[in-house]
Amino acid sequence: MENSKLEEIINLFWKIPSHYNLELPFEKQEGLHLEYLIGKYGKKTVDEYKRLGDAAHREQTKESSFNAYEFGFETGMYQDAAPNVAYRSILDLKSLLKLLGKREKFTVTDLGAGDGRISIALALLLENIEKIYAIDIVKPALKQMDLSKKLLPKTHQKKLDGRVVPVLGDYTDCNFKDKFNSKFNSKADIVLSLYPFDLFEVFEHGLDFLNIGGSILNFMPQPFEESEASLDYIKEEVGMWARTFWYNMEIVDHFSMPKGQLIVASEFKPAKTFD
Ligand SMILES: C[S@@+](CC[C@H](N)C(=O)[O-])C[C@H]1O[C@@H](n2cnc3c(N)ncnc32)[C@H](O)[C@@H]1O
Repeated sequence: MENSKLEEIINLFWKIPSHYNLELPFEKQEGLHLEYLIGKYGKKTVDEYKRLGDAAHREQTKESSFNAYEFGFETGMYQDAAPNVAYRSILDLKSLLKLLGKREKFTVTDLGAGDGRISIALALLLENIEKIYAIDIVKPALKQMDLSKKLLPKTHQKKLDGRVVPVLGDYTDCNFKDKFNSKFNSKADIVLSLYPFDLFEVFEHGLDFLNIGGSILNFMPQPFEESEASLDYIKEEVGMWARTFWYNMEIVDHFSMPKGQLIVASEFKPAKTFD
Protein backbone atom coordinates (compact mmCIF):
# COMPACT_ATOMS: atom_id res chain seq x y z
CA MET A 1 0.00 0.00 0.00
CA GLU A 2 1.36 3.41 -0.93
CA ASN A 3 2.03 5.87 1.90
CA SER A 4 0.73 8.74 -0.22
CA LYS A 5 -2.69 7.07 -0.44
CA LEU A 6 -2.76 6.54 3.32
CA GLU A 7 -1.85 10.21 3.87
CA GLU A 8 -4.52 11.30 1.37
CA ILE A 9 -7.20 9.36 3.25
CA ILE A 10 -6.03 10.51 6.67
CA ASN A 11 -6.14 14.13 5.47
CA LEU A 12 -9.66 13.69 4.13
CA PHE A 13 -11.16 12.06 7.20
CA TRP A 14 -9.09 13.11 10.19
CA LYS A 15 -8.74 16.84 10.47
CA ILE A 16 -6.51 17.82 13.37
CA PRO A 17 -6.90 21.64 13.52
CA SER A 18 -3.67 23.60 13.06
CA HIS A 19 -3.87 25.27 16.51
CA TYR A 20 -3.82 21.85 18.20
CA ASN A 21 -0.50 20.48 19.42
CA LEU A 22 -0.55 16.68 19.63
CA GLU A 23 2.51 16.70 21.87
CA LEU A 24 0.63 18.57 24.62
CA PRO A 25 -2.15 17.16 26.84
CA PHE A 26 -5.71 18.05 25.84
CA GLU A 27 -6.39 19.89 29.12
CA LYS A 28 -3.59 22.37 28.40
CA GLN A 29 -5.22 23.51 25.17
CA GLU A 30 -8.87 22.96 26.01
CA GLY A 31 -9.61 26.71 26.21
CA LEU A 32 -8.15 27.47 22.82
CA HIS A 33 -9.86 24.47 21.29
CA LEU A 34 -13.20 25.50 22.79
CA GLU A 35 -12.89 28.92 21.13
CA TYR A 36 -12.25 27.17 17.83
CA LEU A 37 -15.31 24.94 18.27
CA ILE A 38 -17.54 27.88 19.21
CA GLY A 39 -16.32 29.78 16.12
CA LYS A 40 -17.19 26.80 13.93
CA TYR A 41 -20.40 25.42 15.45
CA GLY A 42 -21.77 28.24 17.62
CA LYS A 43 -21.89 28.45 21.41
CA LYS A 44 -25.31 26.87 21.76
CA THR A 45 -24.28 23.70 19.92
CA VAL A 46 -20.97 23.44 21.76
CA ASP A 47 -22.66 23.93 25.14
CA GLU A 48 -25.26 21.28 24.37
CA TYR A 49 -22.65 18.76 23.27
CA LYS A 50 -20.66 19.43 26.43
CA ARG A 51 -23.81 18.98 28.53
CA LEU A 52 -24.60 15.65 26.86
CA GLY A 53 -20.98 14.51 27.15
CA ASP A 54 -20.85 15.40 30.86
CA ALA A 55 -24.14 13.55 31.45
CA ALA A 56 -22.82 10.45 29.64
CA HIS A 57 -19.66 10.55 31.72
CA ARG A 58 -21.57 11.00 34.97
CA GLU A 59 -24.39 8.51 34.36
CA GLN A 60 -22.44 5.80 32.48
CA THR A 61 -25.64 4.52 30.90
CA LYS A 62 -26.18 3.44 27.33
CA GLU A 63 -28.98 5.93 26.87
CA SER A 64 -26.92 8.93 27.93
CA SER A 65 -23.99 7.77 25.85
CA PHE A 66 -26.15 7.27 22.72
CA ASN A 67 -27.67 10.74 23.24
CA ALA A 68 -24.21 12.26 23.15
CA TYR A 69 -23.16 10.23 20.08
CA GLU A 70 -26.38 11.13 18.30
CA PHE A 71 -25.81 14.84 18.82
CA GLY A 72 -22.11 14.56 17.97
CA PHE A 73 -22.75 12.79 14.67
CA GLU A 74 -25.78 14.94 13.80
CA THR A 75 -23.83 18.19 14.18
CA GLY A 76 -20.55 16.80 12.84
CA MET A 77 -18.87 17.74 16.13
CA TYR A 78 -17.89 14.16 16.99
CA GLN A 79 -14.96 14.49 14.57
CA ASP A 80 -13.77 17.82 15.89
CA ALA A 81 -14.49 17.83 19.60
CA ALA A 82 -11.40 15.94 20.77
CA PRO A 83 -8.40 16.00 18.41
CA ASN A 84 -6.50 13.65 20.75
CA VAL A 85 -9.23 11.04 20.18
CA ALA A 86 -9.12 11.66 16.44
CA TYR A 87 -5.37 11.13 16.56
CA ARG A 88 -5.79 7.89 18.46
CA SER A 89 -8.11 6.74 15.73
CA ILE A 90 -5.43 7.45 13.08
CA LEU A 91 -3.06 5.24 15.05
CA ASP A 92 -5.74 2.56 15.30
CA LEU A 93 -6.07 2.62 11.53
CA LYS A 94 -2.31 2.25 11.14
CA SER A 95 -2.18 -0.69 13.52
CA LEU A 96 -5.08 -2.38 11.75
CA LEU A 97 -3.36 -1.95 8.40
CA LYS A 98 -0.29 -3.58 9.86
CA LEU A 99 -2.27 -6.40 11.44
CA LEU A 100 -4.53 -7.18 8.50
CA GLY A 101 -2.52 -6.16 5.47
CA LYS A 102 -0.99 -9.55 4.74
CA ARG A 103 -4.02 -11.79 5.20
CA GLU A 104 -5.74 -13.71 2.45
CA LYS A 105 -9.09 -12.29 1.34
CA PHE A 106 -11.43 -11.74 4.29
CA THR A 107 -14.65 -10.07 5.46
CA VAL A 108 -15.18 -7.68 8.38
CA THR A 109 -18.07 -6.65 10.59
CA ASP A 110 -17.41 -3.40 12.44
CA LEU A 111 -19.52 -3.28 15.62
CA GLY A 112 -20.24 0.35 16.59
CA ALA A 113 -18.63 1.75 13.46
CA GLY A 114 -19.56 5.35 14.27
CA ASP A 115 -19.10 7.59 11.24
CA GLY A 116 -17.39 4.69 9.47
CA ARG A 117 -14.04 6.38 8.88
CA ILE A 118 -12.09 3.30 9.90
CA SER A 119 -14.29 0.93 7.87
CA ILE A 120 -14.10 3.13 4.79
CA ALA A 121 -10.35 3.71 5.10
CA LEU A 122 -9.70 -0.01 5.56
CA ALA A 123 -11.78 -0.88 2.51
CA LEU A 124 -9.91 1.68 0.43
CA LEU A 125 -6.47 0.75 1.61
CA LEU A 126 -6.72 -3.03 1.83
CA GLU A 127 -7.66 -4.84 -1.35
CA ASN A 128 -7.78 -8.15 0.50
CA ILE A 129 -10.99 -7.00 2.23
CA GLU A 130 -13.99 -8.33 0.36
CA LYS A 131 -16.69 -6.65 2.39
CA ILE A 132 -17.21 -4.63 5.56
CA TYR A 133 -20.54 -4.39 7.35
CA ALA A 134 -20.43 -1.18 9.39
CA ILE A 135 -23.04 -1.42 12.14
CA ASP A 136 -24.16 1.41 14.40
CA ILE A 137 -27.20 1.99 16.56
CA VAL A 138 -27.29 5.75 16.11
CA LYS A 139 -28.94 6.97 12.89
CA PRO A 140 -26.86 10.15 12.40
CA ALA A 141 -23.71 7.98 12.48
CA LEU A 142 -24.91 6.32 9.30
CA LYS A 143 -25.68 9.73 7.83
CA GLN A 144 -22.07 10.74 8.55
CA MET A 145 -20.87 7.51 6.93
CA ASP A 146 -22.64 8.56 3.78
CA LEU A 147 -21.15 12.08 3.98
CA SER A 148 -17.69 10.57 4.55
CA LYS A 149 -18.05 8.53 1.36
CA LYS A 150 -19.09 11.65 -0.54
CA LEU A 151 -15.89 13.42 0.54
CA LEU A 152 -13.92 10.94 -1.53
CA PRO A 153 -12.90 11.34 -5.16
CA LYS A 154 -15.19 9.40 -7.54
CA THR A 155 -12.54 6.72 -8.25
CA HIS A 156 -12.35 5.93 -4.54
CA GLN A 157 -16.12 5.94 -4.19
CA LYS A 158 -16.36 3.32 -6.91
CA LYS A 159 -13.97 1.07 -4.99
CA LEU A 160 -16.36 1.16 -2.06
CA ASP A 161 -19.51 0.27 -3.96
CA GLY A 162 -20.99 -2.80 -2.34
CA ARG A 163 -17.86 -3.31 -0.21
CA VAL A 164 -18.80 -1.06 2.72
CA VAL A 165 -22.35 -1.77 3.82
CA PRO A 166 -23.79 0.60 6.46
CA VAL A 167 -26.25 -1.15 8.77
CA LEU A 168 -28.46 0.49 11.41
CA GLY A 169 -28.99 -1.66 14.49
CA ASP A 170 -28.08 -2.77 17.98
CA TYR A 171 -25.53 -5.57 17.88
CA THR A 172 -26.65 -6.81 21.31
CA ASP A 173 -30.26 -7.24 20.18
CA CYS A 174 -31.27 -10.80 19.25
CA ASN A 175 -33.91 -9.68 16.76
CA PHE A 176 -31.40 -7.46 15.02
CA LYS A 177 -28.83 -10.27 14.91
CA ASP A 178 -31.39 -12.65 13.37
CA LYS A 179 -32.42 -10.08 10.78
CA PHE A 180 -28.79 -9.23 10.00
CA ASN A 181 -27.84 -12.87 9.56
CA SER A 182 -30.83 -13.74 7.41
CA LYS A 183 -30.49 -10.61 5.25
CA PHE A 184 -26.74 -10.78 4.64
CA ASN A 185 -26.10 -14.43 5.38
CA SER A 186 -22.54 -13.45 6.10
CA LYS A 187 -20.43 -14.18 9.15
CA ALA A 188 -17.21 -12.21 9.25
CA ASP A 189 -13.62 -13.40 9.45
CA ILE A 190 -12.78 -10.33 11.54
CA VAL A 191 -15.18 -8.67 13.95
CA LEU A 192 -13.89 -5.23 14.83
CA SER A 193 -14.81 -3.28 17.91
CA LEU A 194 -13.13 0.05 18.53
CA TYR A 195 -13.97 1.67 21.86
CA PRO A 196 -17.26 -0.04 22.72
CA PHE A 197 -19.60 0.91 25.52
CA ASP A 198 -19.10 -2.46 27.17
CA LEU A 199 -16.14 -4.71 26.47
CA PHE A 200 -17.78 -7.89 27.72
CA GLU A 201 -20.85 -7.35 25.59
CA VAL A 202 -18.65 -7.26 22.52
CA PHE A 203 -17.18 -10.69 23.10
CA GLU A 204 -20.55 -12.19 23.99
CA HIS A 205 -22.43 -10.80 21.04
CA GLY A 206 -19.50 -10.56 18.65
CA LEU A 207 -19.47 -14.34 18.43
CA ASP A 208 -22.84 -14.28 16.64
CA PHE A 209 -21.26 -12.27 13.82
CA LEU A 210 -18.11 -14.36 13.59
CA ASN A 211 -17.10 -17.02 11.11
CA ILE A 212 -15.60 -20.28 12.37
CA GLY A 213 -11.89 -19.66 12.77
CA GLY A 214 -12.37 -15.88 12.72
CA SER A 215 -11.20 -13.37 15.33
CA ILE A 216 -12.65 -10.52 17.31
CA LEU A 217 -10.35 -7.50 17.57
CA ASN A 218 -11.16 -5.06 20.28
CA PHE A 219 -9.41 -1.77 21.01
CA MET A 220 -10.07 -0.47 24.47
CA PRO A 221 -8.27 1.89 26.81
CA GLN A 222 -8.05 0.01 30.07
CA PRO A 223 -5.50 -0.30 32.88
CA PHE A 224 -3.29 -3.34 32.47
CA GLU A 225 -4.41 -4.94 35.76
CA GLU A 226 -7.95 -5.11 34.44
CA SER A 227 -6.78 -6.86 31.36
CA GLU A 228 -6.23 -10.18 33.15
CA ALA A 229 -9.82 -10.09 34.40
CA SER A 230 -11.07 -9.38 30.88
CA LEU A 231 -9.07 -12.26 29.48
CA ASP A 232 -10.33 -14.63 32.15
CA TYR A 233 -13.88 -13.63 31.35
CA ILE A 234 -13.40 -14.13 27.64
CA LYS A 235 -11.75 -17.51 28.14
CA GLU A 236 -14.05 -18.89 30.80
CA GLU A 237 -17.43 -17.30 30.11
CA VAL A 238 -17.31 -16.88 26.36
CA GLY A 239 -15.08 -19.88 25.74
CA MET A 240 -12.64 -18.19 23.42
CA TRP A 241 -8.88 -18.07 23.26
CA ALA A 242 -7.77 -14.52 24.00
CA ARG A 243 -4.64 -12.46 24.22
CA THR A 244 -3.99 -8.85 24.96
CA PHE A 245 -1.42 -6.60 23.31
CA TRP A 246 -0.29 -3.19 24.37
CA TYR A 247 -0.63 -1.72 20.97
CA ASN A 248 1.45 1.34 21.67
CA MET A 249 4.47 -0.87 22.23
CA GLU A 250 3.92 -4.18 20.55
CA ILE A 251 2.01 -3.11 17.51
CA VAL A 252 2.48 0.49 16.50
CA ASP A 253 5.62 1.17 18.48
CA HIS A 254 4.47 4.71 19.16
CA PHE A 255 4.97 5.85 22.70
CA SER A 256 3.14 9.14 22.64
CA MET A 257 -0.29 7.66 22.02
CA PRO A 258 -2.87 7.39 24.79
CA LYS A 259 -2.73 4.19 26.81
CA GLY A 260 -4.77 1.40 25.41
CA GLN A 261 -4.77 -2.20 24.53
CA LEU A 262 -5.90 -4.53 21.85
CA ILE A 263 -7.59 -7.75 22.82
CA VAL A 264 -7.71 -10.43 20.19
CA ALA A 265 -9.94 -13.44 20.67
CA SER A 266 -10.66 -16.43 18.49
CA GLU A 267 -13.28 -19.10 18.85
CA PHE A 268 -11.30 -22.29 18.68
CA LYS A 269 -7.60 -21.79 18.45
CA PRO A 270 -5.08 -18.97 18.52
CA ALA A 271 -5.28 -16.93 15.36
CA LYS A 272 -1.79 -17.42 13.96
CA THR A 273 -1.80 -14.03 12.27
CA PHE A 274 -1.84 -12.28 15.62
CA ASP A 275 0.58 -14.47 17.51
C1 LIG B 1 -16.74 5.40 20.93
S1 LIG B 1 -17.71 5.31 19.47
C2 LIG B 1 -16.52 4.59 18.41
C3 LIG B 1 -16.84 4.74 16.95
C4 LIG B 1 -15.81 4.08 16.03
N1 LIG B 1 -15.68 2.67 16.31
C5 LIG B 1 -14.47 4.78 16.15
O1 LIG B 1 -13.53 4.19 16.71
O2 LIG B 1 -14.36 5.93 15.69
C6 LIG B 1 -18.80 3.93 19.84
C7 LIG B 1 -19.86 3.74 18.77
O3 LIG B 1 -20.52 2.51 19.04
C8 LIG B 1 -21.90 2.67 18.81
N2 LIG B 1 -22.58 1.65 19.62
C9 LIG B 1 -22.49 1.47 20.97
N3 LIG B 1 -23.24 0.42 21.37
C10 LIG B 1 -23.80 -0.10 20.25
C11 LIG B 1 -24.66 -1.20 20.01
N4 LIG B 1 -25.10 -1.97 21.00
N5 LIG B 1 -25.03 -1.47 18.73
C12 LIG B 1 -24.59 -0.69 17.70
N6 LIG B 1 -23.77 0.39 17.88
C13 LIG B 1 -23.37 0.67 19.13
C14 LIG B 1 -22.18 4.11 19.25
O4 LIG B 1 -23.36 4.62 18.67
C15 LIG B 1 -20.91 4.83 18.75
O5 LIG B 1 -21.07 5.30 17.44
